[in-house]
Amino acid sequence: MRGTLIVCADYESLSREAAERVAAVLAAEAERQSRVTVALAGGATPRRLYELLASDAFRARVPWIKIHFFWGDERLVPPDHPESNYRLAREALLGRVPVPPANVHAVAGQLPPEQAALSYEQELRTFFRLRRGLPAFDLLLLGVGAEGHTAALFPGAPLSQLVAGEERLVMVAHGPDAMPRLTFTLPVLNAARRIYFLVAGEEKAAAVAWAVEGKGALPVQQVMTAGELLWLLDSEAASQLKAVRVAR
Ligand code: 6PG
Repeated sequence: MRGTLIVCADYESLSREAAERVAAVLAAEAERQSRVTVALAGGATPRRLYELLASDAFRARVPWIKIHFFWGDERLVPPDHPESNYRLAREALLGRVPVPPANVHAVAGQLPPEQAALSYEQELRTFFRLRRGLPAFDLLLLGVGAEGHTAALFPGAPLSQLVAGEERLVMVAHGPDAMPRLTFTLPVLNAARRIYFLVAGEEKAAAVAWAVEGKGALPVQQVMTAGELLWLLDSEAASQLKAVRVAR
C-alpha cells in the first residue's frame, strides 16, 4: 500500500477528519515559516472541508495571514462561473476567513488557455523564486475521478504532462468533456511535501483500490511524494480495498 489510509464512516466525518488534519498542519507549518503554501483540489468533494475550516470550530486555529492558496487544477472559465474551482473555494472558505487577497493565487481562467497556463506558471516561479526546479507545496489536496484521473491529469494524458521535468509546471489539459483546464504537471504534484487525497462515494471505489494498492499507468497511480501521502476516504470509497477496517 502506498501512503497512510484513514477510512471514515461517511462524507461528514471524512470532512471533519480532513479539517482537523489540515488545520493542525497549517498551524504547525505557520510556526516554522512565514509563508505556508497550499494547493487546493478541484471538484465538489472538498466543499464540506472548506466550510468546516471557515466555521467557528476551526477558523481561529489557522493563522490565515500566513497561508497562501493555489490550485492544482482549474477549469478555464471566468472566476464567477459555476464550474470554477476558485469560485467554490471562495464561497465555502476564502470569502469567510481573514486571508489577505494577495495570498489567493487564482488561475486567470478568462484568458486563452495557453496564455493562462504560462501566466500561472510565472506566478509559481515568482512566488517560489524559481529559475529552475520545482515548487514544493507544504500541502497539496487532491481528488480522484472514477476513471483514475487526479488534478486534471486524465488517463491517456500526454507524456509532456507526466514527465515534464522542470521546464513546464502548468499545462493546458483536456478531459472527456469540452472544458479546457489547467493542471500542475505530475512532477509538480510529486514535489509536494504533503499530499492529502480526499475521496468519497462508491463510484470512486475501484479507482481508489487501483491507486492505493496497485502500480500502473493511470495518473492517480503515479502520484507520490518523499513526504506524507494520506488517503482520506469514506467507507464507500474504501469499499474495494482489501483488509480495511472503518476507523471512524
Ligand atoms: C476537477 C478536478 C478533479 C477532481 C475529481 C474529483 O474536477 O476540477 O480536476 O481532479 O478533484 O474529479 O471530483 P469530485 O470531488 O467532484 O468528485
